[in-house]
Amino acid sequence: MDRFVKNFIISSIIYLGISSILGVCMLRYPSLMSLKFVHSHLNMLGWVSMMIYGVGYHVLPRFSGRPLRYPQLGELHFLAANISLIGMLLFYTLNVFMPLKTFEGFAAVFGALQVVSIGLFFYNMLATLLPKA
Ligand code: HEM
Ligand code: HEM
Repeated sequence: MDRFVKNFIISSIIYLGISSILGVCMLRYPSLMSLKFVHSHLNMLGWVSMMIYGVGYHVLPRFSGRPLRYPQLGELHFLAANISLIGMLLFYTLNVFMPLKTFEGFAAVFGALQVVSIGLFFYNMLATLLPKA
């Protein structure tokens, strides 16, 4: 198993743990509902997407009988996906408790980096799966 595949799977489980604890805190302290975006994206971009990336990078090239076209890009994707998710949620949270245009701006910049990281997955997978044998 490639290192970034294992890292995607481990990080996705960590995000599930953190988001579940946050979910319970949101139930207990309704004022924390203002962090619903953090909870939902820890789950959807952290737990769900990262588990899919990890399993997808490992399994899809094998299904198609070809190695992953750019493994280095997989490493870069791992870093970009995690840095951008943590950055986006950190600045979103800061902006909830201390509204500032700067925090809002940084959250958007990290959100854009998350889109770039999704593009890396898209490109690598298509470059692996599309070429004819
Ligand atoms: C211990 C586990 C969990 C708890 C206690 C929990 C709790 C919550 C709470 C309190 C909300 C806010 C609901 C509201 O707006 O009234 C919420 C929203 C949400 N949760 Fe969780 N959650 C848990 C696990 C998960 C998991 C595993 C996922 C995804 C795989 C998930 C995805 C979402 C999403 C997408 C929303 C936003 C839904 C919306 O906007 O209506 N949650 N959760
Ligand atoms: C670049 C990546 C993404 C960005 C920047 C982004 C941004 C946003 C924003 C700004 C909202 C509205 C939040 C609000 O009403 O306060 C939202 C809601 C939501 N997004 Fe995303 N999103 C991204 C990716 C995804 C993905 C991949 C999924 C699912 C797999 C997803 C699922 C949801 C859900 C379920 C909601 C409604 C729950 C909530 O209000 O938090 N998002 N997203």
